[in-house]
Amino acid sequence: MRPKVFANQKVLRPVIVFAFSLFCIIAFGNVESAFGKNDGVTSIFSPLSQPAQEIKETSILVLAVCAVIFIIVAGLLVYAIVRFRHRAGDEASEPPQVYGSNQIELAWTVLPILVVFVLILVTSRTIADIQNRKSPPGAIQATVVGHQWWWEIRYPELGIVTANELHVPASTGNSRQPTFLKLQSADVAHSFWVPQLAGKTDLIPNKENRMWIEPTKPGIYLGNCAEYCGTQHARMLIRVVVQSPDEFDRWVRDQQQATSVNTNATEGRKTFFANSCVNCHTIRGTSAQGKFGPDLTHLMSRETLAAGAAPNTPDNLRLWVRDPQRIKLGCLMPNMQMTDQEVDQLVAYLQTLK
Ligand code: CUA
Repeated sequence: MRPKVFANQKVLRPVIVFAFSLFCIIAFGNVESAFGKNDGVTSIFSPLSQPAQEIKETSILVLAVCAVIFIIVAGLLVYAIVRFRHRAGDEASEPPQVYGSNQIELAWTVLPILVVFVLILVTSRTIADIQNRKSPPGAIQATVVGHQWWWEIRYPELGIVTANELHVPASTGNSRQPTFLKLQSADVAHSFWVPQLAGKTDLIPNKENRMWIEPTKPGIYLGNCAEYCGTQHARMLIRVVVQSPDEFDRWVRDQQQATSVNTNATEGRKTFFANSCVNCHTIRGTSAQGKFGPDLTHLMSRETLAAGAAPNTPDNLRLWVRDPQRIKLGCLMPNMQMTDQEVDQLVAYLQTLK
């Protein structure tokens, strides 16, 4: 006789879909980016940086131990269900009643304790190894500040302030160059997570956390805020741009430049300085020194707007300046109620911030 539950297609189908989805997530780890195309892998199973690699090895061990336990327990369960199932003619007799067995009770107490103990040791060793890593001389030092809903990125030793894109050099065989991050928050708790590079670390108000990454392969690594921090938590993306040491040095030199006074886009420049843009944004080399919003000195060097909410194209920049709430509802940048002409002029000025 077929068990009723599995005869019921209504139950079976969602179970299969769920299992298949879980398999896909684990096997491929491709999460659609904000722009609807798969341009980055965000899987903990394909690490390309030192702490992430160590975490993966520990996770695989834990998963393997759990899988063995699952197979043993599920196997015994299935065996018991099949072997001792109800048969015709069983009604009259009662199964043998067993009360207590010292051997069995000892086995299922001592074995799990040993397993848990081994897992604790392995996990603590990995955690200690990652947390106690000392910053070697020459390591890049950066401070990441979480805001609702964007990332402020400062390199105090290099004199650079940027947003939403953390540039770091790749660590190559003979020149190891890890990046050490100080994590802070300007408002609520956030969490910095770039799965291919390292584990999650929270950014907590009035507290400074630390983490480090040491990517070995140039490329763009996607991450997201991993702690619910308000309406636009989902649009708080971080991109880590890993560059060869030479490219990174070039990027540093470009970013260190203050903006040069540009004679183009004078009208837009006037609009920017006549409005309250200056209260929130900094453009180095000008009187705009606001600290509430992202530093705009090299706005055009960034790939996205609004922490990954939209690609940084002239059209999106126009949409964003005209009404930020249409791209990111609830964001703290207000609609400045500018005329079409003012918006065009302002965008022309912003495009000079290279
Ligand atoms: Cu910041 Cu979620």
